[in-house]
Amino acid sequence: MPRADRIPVVIDTDPGVDDAVTILAALAAPELDVRAISVVHGNVELDRAIENARRVVTFAGRGDVPIHAGTTRPLLRSPMRGKFHGSKGLGPLELPEPTVTLQTEHAVDAMARMLRAAASGAEPLLTICAIGPLTNVALVLAKEPALVAGIARIVLMGGAFAEGGNRTATAEFNLLADPHAAQIVFASGAPIVMAPLDVTHRAMATPERVAELRRRGGRMAVAVADLLAFFDRKDPARYGVHGAPVHDPTVIAYLLRPELFTIRRTYVEVCTSEGLAFGQSVADWWGTTGRPANTDVMIGLDADGFFDLLGGLLARYPA
Ligand code: RIB
Ligand code: CA
Repeated sequence: MPRADRIPVVIDTDPGVDDAVTILAALAAPELDVRAISVVHGNVELDRAIENARRVVTFAGRGDVPIHAGTTRPLLRSPMRGKFHGSKGLGPLELPEPTVTLQTEHAVDAMARMLRAAASGAEPLLTICAIGPLTNVALVLAKEPALVAGIARIVLMGGAFAEGGNRTATAEFNLLADPHAAQIVFASGAPIVMAPLDVTHRAMATPERVAELRRRGGRMAVAVADLLAFFDRKDPARYGVHGAPVHDPTVIAYLLRPELFTIRRTYVEVCTSEGLAFGQSVADWWGTTGRPANTDVMIGLDADGFFDLLGGLLARYPA
């Protein structure tokens, strides 16, 4: 597909098991032009996240994709790490030594440079796929607020509404890991599409779906099946079924097949007050604040269609 017809994206990520699946899916999609991968603290320490990003991109055979190191910690709160990703952050996967080099330009500077080119019209508008804590993205927008003009959309995995939180009663990890950054992003005026737990907990990699990935075969599908089997929460009481919530790849699926999602537009704010609601995403579904809507929230998913898309993308890699 000619580059001009593809969607230019930057993936801001804290790899992470489901981040790894997202990167592999994105790099296989002919519709996407992955201009860069920016790494952020989150699931694991930044250095480990950088190592994991380099290994995953090497595994995908995509040494052409620049990788930039981002922020090491949240803006204000104490750092926190993910759960369920294993000691090295990629579950059971032992990937080959990375050959992809790390860029010297900081992720915040790289994103700002790309957005400046887009805002000037020299480049097409850039889609930011944010699948970790939002510290990098917030710093770009705090550094040069006018760079919002270069953003096509920020499609982010984060937050929770009726589903409740996955790290506190109210808060989902990506927003809780840096609530202040998250609120900067939601208040920035950038067009935001949000994949909260209410939708990602419908994207369950059940044992049957993992077996289907293995049946389809291929090096990448089997690697992702191993990742998702490891990510299995074994908690049908919470998730309704056995399996792994495939959070981050929903961001890529939205870009490729938005019809898989039901969207509801509303005003969203992130609570930055310490206490039980710290990091909670609050949606003003009925307009009681009078504040203008700022987010397209994913509220529904065709899960079978999602896993069919994911399997098809992975099958595009050489067997
Ligand atoms: O809450 C889910 C998010 O936190 C995902 O981005 C996953 O990678 C974990 O870091
Ligand atoms: Ca993530």
